[in-house]
Amino acid sequence: MNALQTLIEQAERDFAQAADSASLENAKARYLGKSGLITAEMKALAALAADEKRVRGAEINAAKQAIERALQQRRDGIEQAELQAQLQAQAIDVTLPGRVADQGGLHPLTRSWMRMEQIFRSMGFDVTDGPEIEDDWTNFTALNSPQDHPARSMQDTFYVDARDPNGQSLLLRTHTSPMQVRYARAHVQRHADAATMPPIKVIAPGRTYRVDSDATHSPMFHQFEGLWIDRDVSMADLKGTFTLFLKAFFERDDILVRFRPSYFPFTEPSAEIDMMFESGPLKGRWLELAGSGQVHPTVIRNFGLDPEQFIGFAFGSGLDRITMLRYGISDLRLFYENDLRFLQQFA
Ligand code: DAH
Repeated sequence: MNALQTLIEQAERDFAQAADSASLENAKARYLGKSGLITAEMKALAALAADEKRVRGAEINAAKQAIERALQQRRDGIEQAELQAQLQAQAIDVTLPGRVADQGGLHPLTRSWMRMEQIFRSMGFDVTDGPEIEDDWTNFTALNSPQDHPARSMQDTFYVDARDPNGQSLLLRTHTSPMQVRYARAHVQRHADAATMPPIKVIAPGRTYRVDSDATHSPMFHQFEGLWIDRDVSMADLKGTFTLFLKAFFERDDILVRFRPSYFPFTEPSAEIDMMFESGPLKGRWLELAGSGQVHPTVIRNFGLDPEQFIGFAFGSGLDRITMLRYGISDLRLFYENDLRFLQQFA
C-alpha cells in the first residue's frame, strides 16, 4: 500500500475520531493546513523531474480530493449530530398531560332561571328586573298593604339602616311583587294614551329576602313575579299560562294544577297555586308553588291605570322551590353552600 493511501486512511480515522467541529478543524489542519501532510507532499514535488511531477502531482491531487471528501462527509455527520442533539435538548414531551382548565358549569338555580325565562318569553312575556333594596311604598303600600296591615307582619323584613331622599324606610325586598309596580308605572308612562297602550305582560325574577332560615327557607331566596294586564285578562288566562309553564318547565304532561282560595292584599280574588305529579316519587302530593290572583283595583290604580278599564292577573312563585322539585333536592341550603360535590352533579 503506498504512502498516500496510508495517509488517506489515517485522515479518515482522525476525522472519524473528531467528536465535534472544533476537533475536526484541527484534524483537517494536520493534512490540508499550511504545514499539513498533503501540503508537505505538494512542496516535495518541486524536487522532481517534469515527468515524475505530473504523475506524482496527479496522485497527490487524488489523495487530497479523497481527504477533502472524507472531511466533508465528517462535517456533514457532525452537523447532523449537533442538530440532533440540539433538537433533543429542546424537545417538547408531547406525551406529558397538558394543563387542563377546569370546566365550569351553571348553578342549578341559574339553569332554572334561564329555563323559566325562556318559557315565558315563548309565551310573549317581557323579562325585567329591579332593585333588591326597595322602598316601603313600592314593597308594601302600592301593593295595598297599609301601615298597620297584618300582611306586613306576615313577612319578617330586613330593614336597611337608612332612608331614601323622601324619608321613606328602605328594606331588602320581601318579594318580587314591587316589580309589578315599577314595571307597570314605567309602561304606563311610555304609553301615555291608555286607548292604544299595549298589554303589560312581564315576568320579574330575582333575589328576595326574609328573616327566615331552615331546610326549606333561606334568608335570601328567589322568586319570579308574573304580571299580565290588559282589558280582558281573566283568571282562566292565569290558569292556562301557569299550567302551560309547569308542563314546559318539568317537561311532562301528567301534572295536575289546583287553585286554592287564599288571601293577599294585592289581589282579589287570591289563590294559592298547587301542583301534583301523577307519577314518580312525588306522586299524589300537592305541592305549593305560588301565590296569585286578579290584581286588586287599588293596585291597578297605583300602576296609573283605571281599574274600570284594565284587569289582569299576577303571580309570585319560588324559583328555589321549582328547582328543588325538578332536581329532587330536599334541602334548600344546599344551593347556597357552594359544595362542589353537590354542584358538580349539575355541570
Ligand atoms: N308576593 C307574594 C309572596 O311573596 C306572592 C304573590 C301572591 C305574588 C299573589 C303575586 C300575587 O303576584 O298575585 O308571598
